[in-house]
Amino acid sequence: MKEFVRIHEVGPRDGLQNEPSVIPVAQKVALIDLLARSGLSDIEVGSFVSPKWVPQMADTDQVLAGLTPVDGVRYALLVPNMRGWEGFQAARVPGVTYEVAVFISASEGFSQSNLNCSIAESVARLTPVVRAAEVVGVGVRGYVSCVTDCPFDGPVAPEAVARATALLRALAPMQVSLGDTIGKGTPDRVTAMIAAVTDVVPVAELAGHFHDTGGQALANMDAALDLGVRAFDTAVGGLGGCPYAPGAPGNVATEAVLNRLHALGFETGVDPDVVAQAAEMAKGMR
Ligand code: HMG
Ligand code: MG
Repeated sequence: MKEFVRIHEVGPRDGLQNEPSVIPVAQKVALIDLLARSGLSDIEVGSFVSPKWVPQMADTDQVLAGLTPVDGVRYALLVPNMRGWEGFQAARVPGVTYEVAVFISASEGFSQSNLNCSIAESVARLTPVVRAAEVVGVGVRGYVSCVTDCPFDGPVAPEAVARATALLRALAPMQVSLGDTIGKGTPDRVTAMIAAVTDVVPVAELAGHFHDTGGQALANMDAALDLGVRAFDTAVGGLGGCPYAPGAPGNVATEAVLNRLHALGFETGVDPDVVAQAAEMAKGMR
């Protein structure tokens, strides 16, 4: 039996949020619907954040309305606060499986830049989102950003990442995705960071989210695999970035990750040919 690695496709959110222009809803829907037929179980499709902050995601309600849901696919949305939760509640389509992703930073500088508040305030704002999701039975995922470096504060200590992860996990059981937001991490530093985080959370509940700005994302994934991480976030066509993290462009490409994982003998359940078609479509949007 081959070991399974779960791929969480984030291109339609993490990728398209960083494009200079707003991609038309029909193009977003076509990309997501194609990805949903590739065998992926998890696709992040948009954000209920301020349209003034991230105009590229302002049409997420229309995207949800336009999708052709595929059984077995979880459609994930970023939700930072109750205003975002209300937007999600108004837009969700009955019968579809959704997950909300809450996100905090391991560094105060990025927290201020991305969320306009401190780490502690961001946790206070997302806590009622986690509670509301529990009430209606929607799954929750957590992100910790800047797990090796912050564009404002510089290198981030592994202990700070462990503390941020523990803050999320104190709210509810959830997978926590560890974000190298600006792609400055190296395998040694990723290893030290994951070692610190696994002091507070079992490795089976972690995911790696490696931006490829420094060309190290696959090597960082290998380091995480060595420590037992079996879930990774990827972006079709290498789309990606964060508009509030200077230097963030370039999520690790789904197709490159599939190549690497399949060559290493892991199973993903994802069809590389369908992802290759989606990568062509994504490249056409840039
Ligand atoms: P704020 O200005 O501090 O919020 O922004 P506020 O509560 O003071 O509200 C100000 C205005 O925004 C009000 O409207 C609110 O109603 C509205 P006004 O009265 O002025 O007309 N508002 C909202 N509108 C829609 N949806 C909402 C919402 N909340 C408030 N949810 C806020 C705080 C969090 C909203 C803002 O900072 C924001 O939207 N930030 C964007 C964060 C973001 O999406 N960043 C990119 C994603 S994170 C990422 O890429 C990293 C990741 O990939 C992992 C990694 O790589 O590390 C996940
Ligand atoms: Mg990201």
